Amino acid sequence: MLRALDFAPYVPSSFWSLSNAMSNEHPLDTSRERDDASPAPADLTRRRFLQSAAAAAALGSVPHLHAQNAPPPADAATPAPPLAPAQPVKLDINGREYVLHIEPRVTLLDALRDYAGLTGTKKGCDRGQCGACTVLVEGRRINSCLTLAVMHEGQRITTVEGLAGTDAPSAVQRAFIEHDALQCGYCTPGQVCSATACLAEFAAGAASAVTADVRTSPAQLSDAEIRERMSGNLCRCGAYANIVAAVRDAHAASA
Ligand code: FES
Ligand code: FES
Repeated sequence: MLRALDFAPYVPSSFWSLSNAMSNEHPLDTSRERDDASPAPADLTRRRFLQSAAAAAALGSVPHLHAQNAPPPADAATPAPPLAPAQPVKLDINGREYVLHIEPRVTLLDALRDYAGLTGTKKGCDRGQCGACTVLVEGRRINSCLTLAVMHEGQRITTVEGLAGTDAPSAVQRAFIEHDALQCGYCTPGQVCSATACLAEFAAGAASAVTADVRTSPAQLSDAEIRERMSGNLCRCGAYANIVAAVRDAHAASA
């Protein structure tokens, strides 16, 4: 059978201090004689408790101290690769040519916001989960945070700033306004771009995950179809009911 001392080489000495302090304790033994100069039992108990707590804290910090003193992992010692030099990238955004001097690893989202100054497109999660950064590339919706700007040279990019006509909002924008389909509005540019592409996809006969028979075009754009097709665009304000109503009306207006 293993005894406590069998573990002695593996246990820090502070643990044994703690054990000894606890085993020598007699907090309720008031019958023992004490001399007036020595601390009262209550003081002794409190002091021993504090000593024990300090020992326990030291024991708990041992792995942490060890981790701090451990050599850094191999990755941390590897120097970061040097930045690639900026290069001119030509982008067609909302029908206008932009020449942006950007490093090749700049995402389309950052190129739009930080270099082209088109801040209508929003950065939510920056990892493809919220849809706030949705823009249209050649009419198809994409998450601009998940793609590099240099990959879209020569392609037609449309952001929320480019959806409206010269003097009037688009049908989707008008429907969002009429249905009050927003609260804080942060997700709205992505929702509007996504809804615009969603209606175009439906008009082209694309099926969705809730289409009953994917071999044929869905007969009508039901609320279930709208919810499924817009499910990549999150709204933290929970304006979903009004967003669905806006998309439904925009579809009816375009039919
Ligand atoms: S910011 Fe791109 S998906 Fe969230
Ligand atoms: S309106 Fe606030 S996140 Fe959608």
